[in-house]
Amino acid sequence: MSHILVTGGAGYIGSHVVKLLLEKGYKVSVLDSLINGHIEVVPEEVNFYQIDLADKEGLDAIFEKNTFDAVMHFAAFIEAGISMNEPGKFFTNNCSNGINLLEVMMKYDVSKLIFSSTAALYGDPIQTPIKENHPLQPVNHYGTTKLIFEKILSMYKETYNLKYIALRYFNAAGADQGAEIGEDHDPETHLIPLVLQTALGKRDDIKIFGTDYDTEDGTCVRDYIHVSDLAEAHLLALENLLEGGQSDQFNLGNGKGFSVREVIEAAKKVTGKDIKVVEAGRREGDPAILIADSTKIKNKLGWDPKFTSIEDIIKTAWEFHMKHPDGFKKLSSATFFELLSTPTRAGN
Ligand SMILES: NC(=O)c1ccc[n+]([C@@H]2O[C@H](COP(=O)([O-])OP(=O)(O)OC[C@H]3O[C@@H](n4cnc5c(N)ncnc54)[C@H](O)[C@@H]3O)[C@@H](O)[C@H]2O)c1
Repeated sequence: MSHILVTGGAGYIGSHVVKLLLEKGYKVSVLDSLINGHIEVVPEEVNFYQIDLADKEGLDAIFEKNTFDAVMHFAAFIEAGISMNEPGKFFTNNCSNGINLLEVMMKYDVSKLIFSSTAALYGDPIQTPIKENHPLQPVNHYGTTKLIFEKILSMYKETYNLKYIALRYFNAAGADQGAEIGEDHDPETHLIPLVLQTALGKRDDIKIFGTDYDTEDGTCVRDYIHVSDLAEAHLLALENLLEGGQSDQFNLGNGKGFSVREVIEAAKKVTGKDIKVVEAGRREGDPAILIADSTKIKNKLGWDPKFTSIEDIIKTAWEFHMKHPDGFKKLSSATFFELLSTPTRAGN
């Protein structure tokens, strides 16, 4: 049975992938500093290492103790807006800390990696739907950190024969059926959770930034991909590398665009609640339309996303939000200190 290390496995997308890996019989270890993750989403049966990727000695100890067949690398800072004010923090975590991971992988002969990349690599699209060969021109520092890391991966491929698959996600959304795990970011900037928090009365209103775009209803159009479909794509990518596949990059989106107004209308229908909307001006750096062309991964790896309707995606997110109206517990500093002094949970 292959043993997979998942960095950032206590986060939103990583936790869904961990769940799927366990269901498929993989042995899983999770590495997460919990800076933005939640211990509640890490299943009991995984080895959990609470360390930061900046901690080279800690990383070395984990690799010395375990034999990993592959690594899935989700750990990163993700908020594009914040990256514009704190670039150093983003380049350090998303690039430099990622190199620490690659170095320890090379030291211990772990040569397969699945990397969480992003549609932010493409910047303002010159063609849509966007294919993988679209020019890479990120318009925010977050996107640049991911572009740089993809370049670093290609260098490790040339130098050390690293095999990697970079998955460029569009907007991840929804929650696992069962609603035990789901999206709980702080700060939350993603549209669907914000709309649902408004439906729950946790926010007064939802803001639409820009109503004069060149789209059917004037609001921005985005491609929402269900997190369980994303998880399936990770599994396919992993199996491909484990079976000797070559390095590659794939877009992951559902290929349909939904405008901000369409998402809000769908959320009203799903929740049965009135959701107050406030119209505001455009935000800098928001392209009118971002839609993925995911034909490549469908053809090459047989990916077959199940959630194509925005209502179905929102329904799963709504179930999660109703079950966890205040999100996961925020760790008090005392609990955090206790966790830090107990590096692993599974006796490793
Ligand atoms: N959410 C999206 O829509 C989306 C879209 C495109 C790409 N991505 C990428 O997918 C990945 C996962 O996104 P997410 O939404 O699950 O984010 P998330 O913040 O929920 O999860 C990231 C996890 O990584 C951990 N982490 C961060 N830095 C770390 C470090 N230095 N050491 C150890 N752990 C660290 C955090 O504690 C968190 O649990 C990220 O790399 C992100 O850039 C996300």
